Amino acid sequence: MAHPQQRRDLGVVRFYNFLPEATSFLSEVLTGLALPRKALPPKYFYDARGCSLFEQICELPEYYPTRTELAIMREHSAAMAKFLGPDCQLIEFGSGSSRKTSILIEQLRPPLYVPIDIAGEAMQAAAAGLVQDFPWLNINGVCADYTRALTLPVFVGVPIRKKAVYFPGSTIGNFTPEEAIEFLQLARRMVGAGGALLIGVDLKKDKPVLDAAYNDAAGVTAAFNLNLLARINRELGGDFQLQRFRHRAFYDEALGRIEMHVESLAAQFVHVGGERFSFGQGETILTEISCKYSVDEFRAVAQRAGFAPGHTWTDAARLFSVHGMIAV
Ligand code: AVJ
Repeated sequence: MAHPQQRRDLGVVRFYNFLPEATSFLSEVLTGLALPRKALPPKYFYDARGCSLFEQICELPEYYPTRTELAIMREHSAAMAKFLGPDCQLIEFGSGSSRKTSILIEQLRPPLYVPIDIAGEAMQAAAAGLVQDFPWLNINGVCADYTRALTLPVFVGVPIRKKAVYFPGSTIGNFTPEEAIEFLQLARRMVGAGGALLIGVDLKKDKPVLDAAYNDAAGVTAAFNLNLLARINRELGGDFQLQRFRHRAFYDEALGRIEMHVESLAAQFVHVGGERFSFGQGETILTEISCKYSVDEFRAVAQRAGFAPGHTWTDAARLFSVHGMIAV
């Protein structure tokens, strides 16, 4: 039988589902395909198959961000925990597999961890993994679209001195710089004055390195991209013929961003939700942007959202950065 002392030391784990009905997927797809320049939101990549393909992307030799950010976390997690301070509630956007988070939690030992992810099952599985390693950890897991304003569930009975948003993976790159400012303002409101932001941001670098990272030889990124069309077929009854589309990704140096598209290989019609969409040969759907920043460029963006630069950790090759900032 468990000792009472041990039982008190166990954390409390709760899950909340704040996701709207599936209708928002349909309406966002219909809106995006009706645009003069067709575009779809990248958050819809992450169904079960998309999550699994993304995990594979993270292991690719060409895809340097994940392993580089992990190495930065391993090397500097103690300094990061010190920067954030004790009794810090940790809120994570897009928690995914939580490997980086685990490194941070070990050092920070937060009174409460709040992972927020649109992929609810993946988030729950990752939380279950963290409970194995940190049985004392209190978790309020939230399944939600964190690109929209949301009110977090409260957790009573633990001392919380400040809130920190952890946003790893350079997912901030999915926004344009203007959108990033707006989004970081939401984060700023969530943590309040004196709160913190710890954010992973991919750095600008030579075009060949970036092009290769989004055009891997094994074709995993292509499969990830095209899975969005397959998901529309599966969940919304669309009739995309996948062999009539191809993956295209390139670094636009002027805009400082990767653009990922699916390109129509022929003139064709596609039906979704009772509507018909025409594609010209060579016409594309923009499925993702991935903006890259210099350290100073990103600091300027965060500053405009109300975060004062604190410390930036990078790897020796200057591939990736992790910024620690305090809300003013
Ligand atoms: C999860 C948005 C950071 O932009 O690098 C990887 C997603 N897309 N390969 C990125 C992605 C294609 C990734 N983020």
